Amino acid sequence: MRIVIVGSGKMGQAIAALAERRGHVIHAIIGGEENDGGRALTAERLKGAEVAVEFTRPEAVVANLERLIAAGIPTVTGTTGWRDQLAHVGALVERRGGALLHAANFSLGVHLFLRAAHDLARRFAGRPGFDAFILEEHHAAKLDAPSGTARELQIRLASADPARSFPIISVRAGATPGTHQVAYDGPYERITLGHEARSREGFAAGALAAAEWLPGHTGVYTVEDMLFGEEA
Ligand SMILES: NC(=O)c1ccc[n+]([C@@H]2O[C@H](COP(=O)([O-])OP(=O)(O)OC[C@H]3O[C@@H](n4cnc5c(N)ncnc54)[C@H](OP(=O)(O)O)[C@@H]3O)[C@@H](O)[C@H]2O)c1
Repeated sequence: MRIVIVGSGKMGQAIAALAERRGHVIHAIIGGEENDGGRALTAERLKGAEVAVEFTRPEAVVANLERLIAAGIPTVTGTTGWRDQLAHVGALVERRGGALLHAANFSLGVHLFLRAAHDLARRFAGRPGFDAFILEEHHAAKLDAPSGTARELQIRLASADPARSFPIISVRAGATPGTHQVAYDGPYERITLGHEARSREGFAAGALAAAEWLPGHTGVYTVEDMLFGEEA
């Protein structure tokens, strides 16, 4: 497959390396310097690309998606921190008959963890005496906080137990690729459920699997549509 990668940071580079190992062709890697406001994403530059994978920054992602969708390129994005603009981008995808797959977290394990956390929250619903909280930790260079995954976790937990609040504590320090935990703390005990990413490779593998899956589909998808299909 011919893949255009938008964003040459830690994730863009990890995805490019893995894609080449899997026998894909890197059509282009488009970095921030040449692409202010998405200006490098021209029809000419994108010609021949079969899919785009976008991992940039919250302030850059929407312009990139607008350009890629307008050019008719199925696009996978893992950039976080732009959820409030999803409706706008989704409307564009529908209007153009395009394809977009977005995920704040591309690891398979995290999606199983989100489901397990929802089940746990159902068990605690209606049981006072426990305070719940979410703890998420990421490397010092991560720009947004809370993480997209922590926000998603909070939504899932609240949907299972609307009467309880689930505050998020974010830590930005060191080099950890990403840790998420939900805890229920009572007077005599604490219950925790967590997910710890060991490297960026897991996210890169998930994003690449999405890039292989998306062409041929139309509409807006999440990684759960790909992983769990109708069960999602
Ligand atoms: N979904 C997931 O599984 C997952 C996993 C890890 C990270 N993420 C998210 O993915 C995003 C990128 O993460 P990262 O770790 O790769 O960050 P990073 O190392 O900081 O890389 C971001 C890159 O985006 C580039 N960029 C900025 N504006 C751009 C534009 N208009 N066009 C092209 N490139 C542009 C930057 O280039 P310049 O420095 O030249 O501006 C930089 O190289 C973040 O939002 C992060 O939270 C998601």
